[in-house]
Amino acid sequence: MCGIIGYVGGAPAIPVLLAGLKRLEYRGYDSAGLALQAGDRLVALKSVGKVAGLAEKTRQTWTPEEQQGPRVGIAHTRWATHGAPTEPNAHPHFAAGGGIALVHNGIIENYRALRARLEAKGHVFVSETDTEALARLIGEAYQGDLRAAVLAALRQVDGAYGIAVLSRDEPGVIIAARKGSPLVIGVGEGECLVASDPAAIIAHTRRVIYLDDGDVARVTADHVDIVDLDAARIDRSVGELGFAADAVEKGGYEHFMLKEIHEQPEALRNALRGRLDPRQGTAILAGMGTSPRDLAEIRRIVLLGCGTSLHAGQVGEHAFGELAGISASAQQAAEFRYRNPLVDPDDLVVAISQSGETADTLAAVREAREKGALVLGLVNVVGSTIARETGRGVYLHAGPEISVASTKAFTCQVAVLLLMALRLGRGRRLSRERGAALAVELARLPELVGAVLAREAEIAAVAERFADQEHAFYLGRGPMQAVALEGALKLKEISYVHAEGYHAAELKHGPIALLTPGTPVVVLANRSPIRDKVLGNAEECRARGACVIAVMTEGDDAAGIDAVLRIPDCDPLVATIPAAVALQLLAYHVARRRGCPIDQPRNLAKSVTVE
Ligand code: M6R
Repeated sequence: MCGIIGYVGGAPAIPVLLAGLKRLEYRGYDSAGLALQAGDRLVALKSVGKVAGLAEKTRQTWTPEEQQGPRVGIAHTRWATHGAPTEPNAHPHFAAGGGIALVHNGIIENYRALRARLEAKGHVFVSETDTEALARLIGEAYQGDLRAAVLAALRQVDGAYGIAVLSRDEPGVIIAARKGSPLVIGVGEGECLVASDPAAIIAHTRRVIYLDDGDVARVTADHVDIVDLDAARIDRSVGELGFAADAVEKGGYEHFMLKEIHEQPEALRNALRGRLDPRQGTAILAGMGTSPRDLAEIRRIVLLGCGTSLHAGQVGEHAFGELAGISASAQQAAEFRYRNPLVDPDDLVVAISQSGETADTLAAVREAREKGALVLGLVNVVGSTIARETGRGVYLHAGPEISVASTKAFTCQVAVLLLMALRLGRGRRLSRERGAALAVELARLPELVGAVLAREAEIAAVAERFADQEHAFYLGRGPMQAVALEGALKLKEISYVHAEGYHAAELKHGPIALLTPGTPVVVLANRSPIRDKVLGNAEECRARGACVIAVMTEGDDAAGIDAVLRIPDCDPLVATIPAAVALQLLAYHVARRRGCPIDQPRNLAKSVTVE
């Protein structure tokens, strides 16, 4: 949520900052701004809307020569929390008569009190943001040492922040600090970058330092030194980014979402690599890090996540019950800590998050740890906060996911949850034969998903048929109920078609009243012991004039169905993955047909770092 990029080095800063913002735009895109050290002053530009608007304003404001000048700057792309997306509310925010500039991700929770105190001292605020209070605190504390001023200000704030700060009086210096909002420093040859996401710096360097909560770094072109909030020196090692620059490029696809949908065979291959043991019929997950005895003692499993990650957990709920005989429940992470959760040391809590930064999931992790539960992370972004706070867990290895709509992360989350269920099942009641059969099916996942992708044109043709509708329903039973929820979420977030996912049997208990002739109803009717029940539910919809689109196993009889999306024959738990891929493509092509901004839907941000 919101993106930060800072640059200090020998190259012109403006192109670096604008390119970095472009990479970060998926994190927030309602306004953008930058501040630069230009001789003995700070200059800034802000604009409402996308980064392209800021780039245009830059061209209109400064001549090409002027744009080449500044070598140090900070920039921000915003997802509004406090105050509408307007220029005054856009970052950077200033203090000390324009001598200090600040960009900020996160929320300063006590900003009202801080603002009142500052206003009482005569400060006149120019924005509605929480960030301006922090900028002004830094300005108040500044006595010639920017980091000392930042430290003094940060000691007064509650909340979450990732910040980058410039002073007019300290050329060539950026101060960067984090607490609860990620920040990474890229260490290049004679240049350094500060960013909220490595995607913004990968084009410059793969050498990075991840800041930890409480770290305050002083960054110059050739040196980074870090202290904690008490100004005590800290050593942080320089690591290597695990992906290449082209992983964050569209690579010829029209949208990142489409690219990421098509990357799924490879992403799944990476998620499964070295983790299957078909001979023993089990999975090898070193990251679970617990002895077989401890695993055997797990009494209950709680799966925590938000949005798509919660839906993955809902598939997991079925898998743990069915394969391992362990009672599992997927819970909305935002709700978890407010319901006095019943977790104890015999319980396994799995925090599922693509970004590893979702504030609600992180808060739930902290609550579960406090209650003594064993907490594992199921995270995609290496080094993210949830990955680090859980300390153990299993990475997805899906590669960077840029599109706001999560696709490959979902299928990899489900795949890894199935691996975990297999692993736990084999320590309990699951026979070697059944385990081996499932391991073989899981190993086929790249091929199963590839078969769905090969049918993209058919799926696009189905999408054409209902792209003009304003309402849709998605129905499934068992683990496919979660896929129905996920399919509906995909459709609504990128195409703005109102879509609801339900248990297939639930429709007749109320929502069926909404069906009118032609309403699209997507039913997940793959080959499984409950397929005929689902088809029965589909009939109930057809009888009311609905247009039934069924996800069905290749070869199954589709008589009476209006449109069919085919998936290959496979185990019903495994089938959740190719079925989800079919629904991703369906949503994508509906949104494309409707001309929607697919990678950056309105009002959304990729990583939701506020509660
Ligand atoms: O990064 P996380 O997996 O924790 O994110 C959770 C949700 O915000 C995310 O899945 C969201 O629902 C996606 N936009 C769905 O496509």
